[in-house]
Amino acid sequence: MPLNIVIGAQWGDEGKGRITDLLAAQADMVVRYSGGDNAGHTVTIGDEVFKLHLIPSGIIHDTANCLIGNGVVVNPKVMLHEMDALAKRGIDVSPACLKLSENAHLITPAHIALDKAREMQRGEGAIGTTLRGIGPAYTDKASRQGIRAGLMANPEELADAIHTHVATHNEVLTKIYGADALDTDAVAAEYAAYAQRLAPYLVDGSILLDEALRDGRSILAEGAQGTLLDIDHGTYPFVTSSSPTAGGALTGLGVGPKQVGQIIGVAKAFTTRVGSGPFPTELSGSIAARLRGTGENPWDEYGTTTGRPRRVGWLDLVILRHAQRINSLTDLALTKLDILSGIPELQVCVAYELDGRRLTHFPTDLNTLARCRPIYQTLPGWHEDIMPIRTFSGLPANAQNYVNFITDQLGIPASIISVGPAREQTISF
Ligand code: IMP
Repeated sequence: MPLNIVIGAQWGDEGKGRITDLLAAQADMVVRYSGGDNAGHTVTIGDEVFKLHLIPSGIIHDTANCLIGNGVVVNPKVMLHEMDALAKRGIDVSPACLKLSENAHLITPAHIALDKAREMQRGEGAIGTTLRGIGPAYTDKASRQGIRAGLMANPEELADAIHTHVATHNEVLTKIYGADALDTDAVAAEYAAYAQRLAPYLVDGSILLDEALRDGRSILAEGAQGTLLDIDHGTYPFVTSSSPTAGGALTGLGVGPKQVGQIIGVAKAFTTRVGSGPFPTELSGSIAARLRGTGENPWDEYGTTTGRPRRVGWLDLVILRHAQRINSLTDLALTKLDILSGIPELQVCVAYELDGRRLTHFPTDLNTLARCRPIYQTLPGWHEDIMPIRTFSGLPANAQNYVNFITDQLGIPASIISVGPAREQTISF
């Protein structure tokens, strides 16, 4: 069985945790390959809501082993906090079930302090990061001064590395940003304690996955963020610092392209975005409030990681075509179709208008994107409650028409449609 990849096809928050949870039932391993605890994956099982930031959603299944791959940046404090919270709910988080690649990089308090200081300095031009230290951790990785998780197996080297790391970043924090210096010894002591608990989880992730694939086991790669947050293919600079796209899955795990089977693009039936930057189909007013929800439910459009209200808009097929091309999507998983029930007319953006020209490709240059106006196709809505429906043919004709319109435009089939927040509120093909 190959490596199947779940990818966010929009700006993140598409419901990847939910789709991963469904597919994890048939997978032997569930792995994370990019990002860090900036992700927020919500999985609802019965009355229980699990919100995970770092540990793969597959951990909730006792059949799947989980790996945090080399492409991830790991805050060990968050990892341990999530492990403890899961253990309290009876979920096995022992090294038999959960593993951490020794080539993943650690996030430290210095990275978090730098993330905050840089965002403050950007002022009006702030990226709107999650302030989890993600960008500075990847910066250190790329400039070859990061701290790999593998050092946690070697307490002396780890202590030296943390001392140098904090002292170096204190210079920048105090002299460039006027921020407080961190206590080097305190951070070293804190990380020594994390290392003691996490060292047994360390593995060579690439070898582990290679052995699994040779044994015929199936691997599900759980994407974080989304295609438009990709550092190369997203809306730079309003992006994250890693590659959440299909290519990132391969480098973030150490697996070759021939191993890949399905590449499932997860898209909401409308569009959302957190943070700054242009958003051609953005809505305001009553429809926006309707799509966003009140914030009382865990599935309303408020950030799982930050609690910020998300920006909302109509579905944008220019974005989905971009995601399809960048990732070679084989399938579409469409989430939150139920949220559109009761809206009399639905708009779907099929192209952009730019200086009198029709654009069907997504421009990743921000100034160009900011000048694009959406060209909509209006589709009739449906008023029925679709949450109890479990078959495609059972959906109201206009809901079927909405889905068919999207898949026809993208040229890929829908393999999953979610019609409610719970695991079972799903139509599978
Ligand atoms: P960072 O990843 O914290 O550096 O944030 C960079 C940008 O990516 C900001 O606009 C964040 O709001 C956005 N972002 C990061 N992670 C997620 C996510 O899981 N969902 C949606 N947006 C995200």
